[in-house]
Amino acid sequence: MSTKRTIEHGKRDGFASLSPMTGGGLNPDSFPMRLFRKGNAKPWDPASIDFSQDAKDFAAMTDDERWQTCALAAQFLAGEESVTQDLQPFVAAMASEGRLADEMYLTQFVYEEAKHTQAFRLWFDAVGMTGDLHEYIDDNEHYMQIFTQALPESLYALQNDPSPRSQIRASVTYNHIVEGTLALTGYFAWHKICAERGILPGMQQVIKHIGDDERRHMAWGTFTCRRHVAADDANWDLVDERMQELMVPAMGVVTGTVDRFGEGETPFGIDINELAEYAMDKLGRRLGAIESARGADLHVIDVDAEPENLEEQFHAEDERELVAAAAG
Ligand SMILES: [Fe+2]
Ligand SMILES: [Fe+2]
Repeated sequence: MSTKRTIEHGKRDGFASLSPMTGGGLNPDSFPMRLFRKGNAKPWDPASIDFSQDAKDFAAMTDDERWQTCALAAQFLAGEESVTQDLQPFVAAMASEGRLADEMYLTQFVYEEAKHTQAFRLWFDAVGMTGDLHEYIDDNEHYMQIFTQALPESLYALQNDPSPRSQIRASVTYNHIVEGTLALTGYFAWHKICAERGILPGMQQVIKHIGDDERRHMAWGTFTCRRHVAADDANWDLVDERMQELMVPAMGVVTGTVDRFGEGETPFGIDINELAEYAMDKLGRRLGAIESARGADLHVIDVDAEPENLEEQFHAEDERELVAAAAG
């Protein structure tokens, strides 16, 4: 029986990749390794997307429509930049726990967030919006609260304390609120803007690719909470607690985007109640997947595909709804 080596950053005394599976080595069937393989098989290049029609569509919008479109795109751009930076403490936290497979997957995850940042920046440049864009987010108080406080604070807490408690607070904030609630609701809004009117084909491609990457990200977040909840039932309360803390600001971000418009006057017919309902449904079901790990065997959780299956199921539901909306 070999002893488990330390792979924590700066404290390495051996190598997980050289270790047997029973001693901290890589399990190819583990959840993070499966996500890693999936991501490697689906490369895409933001620079290869053609935004020339987007520039024409953007120029043809009314002022309110243009404002709404820029506000949504600016929230995404600043959000993608934030998550690119703020995930990095989680990468190191995985190494401190001796989890090389998670660390490897998270490096791909960070790279994908950087690519998402690039994609939205390219879009703004292509439609001619090269000036300061802070005006589109500065007045959204809840947006600023989440992206300048809640998100960085809970992620950088991992630097000094990579405990399960900190990981749960970080994952709920990052994977379940920012990605699972805000970004997911944002895609829904993009569909309203683009698909129903048949405009912004470049942005439609961006959203399709990003949505695909994000399904793996959210699945990893669900997996991470599940393994901590399975290991210690008291951790379930931490999931719930963090979720409650962030629910109000998260909903505030969603409604804050259309605050400036009177009721029924939101550009593109965006219905805030529909958006909020959509967000709550997904959040509730993902929480259910975490709760189902209570009392489960950790070895089962480590290979269980439920978090991946759940995201695929959400995707299939969205596709069906879009087809119905297009036909309707
Ligand atoms: Fe992203
Ligand atoms: Fe993400």
